Amino acid sequence: MIPITKPCVGEEEARAAAEAVLSGWLSQGQRVQAFEHAVAGYVGAKHAVATSNCTTALHLALLAAGVGAGDEVICPSFSFIATANAVVHAGATPVFVDIDRRTYNIDPGLIEAAITPRTKAIIPVDQIGLAADIPAVAAIARKHGLRVVEDAAPSLGATAGEGRVGAMSDFTCFSFHPRKSITSGEGGMITTNDDRAAEYLRCVRSHGASSSDLARHTSGTTDIEEYRELGYNYRMTDIQGAVGTVQMGRLEGILEARGTLARRYDALFAGDPRLETPFVPEGYRHTYQSYCVRLNGQDRAAIMASLAAKGIASRRGVMAIHLEPWYRERWPDVSLPETEAATANTLLLPLYAGMTEAEQDEVADALRAALA
Ligand SMILES: Cc1ncc(COP(=O)(O)O)c(C=O)c1O
Repeated sequence: MIPITKPCVGEEEARAAAEAVLSGWLSQGQRVQAFEHAVAGYVGAKHAVATSNCTTALHLALLAAGVGAGDEVICPSFSFIATANAVVHAGATPVFVDIDRRTYNIDPGLIEAAITPRTKAIIPVDQIGLAADIPAVAAIARKHGLRVVEDAAPSLGATAGEGRVGAMSDFTCFSFHPRKSITSGEGGMITTNDDRAAEYLRCVRSHGASSSDLARHTSGTTDIEEYRELGYNYRMTDIQGAVGTVQMGRLEGILEARGTLARRYDALFAGDPRLETPFVPEGYRHTYQSYCVRLNGQDRAAIMASLAAKGIASRRGVMAIHLEPWYRERWPDVSLPETEAATANTLLLPLYAGMTEAEQDEVADALRAALA
């Protein structure tokens, strides 16, 4: 079986996890702090705040951005459902904006028409690992006094020209689910340059406590913490922190390997009119959570079945959130032509560091046979 992805983890991660367990400090301790420092340093942000996953990271970032009941947040529908769920959990309404046909990311040219007096924030999503046009989104946000909460779940290591994902938006949220380039099993991280917001995020991820267990333990203080904010338990464990820190050391190698495989897929499919290969704007670095092809006038279900019969996993490109029942029942009139076309016609192929050329040839041959 050729899986859709394979996490790149081994003995070193297993040892780090075991050391965390044996240390006797298992949650939100120094290993989580080390992971935070590694991510902040890598993306070039002042702060990184670890959370239990990217969905909770998005929720907290929206709260830190001042989003609450009655507000609207602009986001793409062509995303994983967590993007919009986080908006709803914050008490706000997601306002879906269509995507650019080539990048599959929010079309900045359509954002201003969706802004109302209730709009508080914009969530550009770096879909499948390609950074959205953050400079264009940020310029619109500045003009209208909005905050940008970037959903960078799959895009740690991505760049947009000179800009590195994690250092361009008010808040950037990453995922460390096993589908992503690097993993801590589950896990999330928010990066920001805003000192006050970082302090707020650290407080509300841990029940709203005014000081952390680690700070009290290391300072030896007998002060009693206060709860001035309504908080959550969105903490990361030190087992995750330990695994994530080891994974950070592998990140560049993993991204290099993914990029090489993607360019090889590009070459294998070059010139085939039955499909379109991923578009990467000049100067951008894609992290390729998967290799996404667009099928021109092909029966995707039949192609996926044909690949599965040969032991090759594939997935639909990305969902259209507004077409999922929970959203459709509440907002039935949303119409997004590019999103709807993309969700119907895109297909994700296996791609992971460690995938062999023989495996890749098997995928390409099977896809070409299914297309024929
Ligand atoms: C674009 C996007 N946003 C948010 C998430 C949620 O991440 P997590 O599973 O870490 O909560 C994902 C996960 O696949 C995602 O792809």
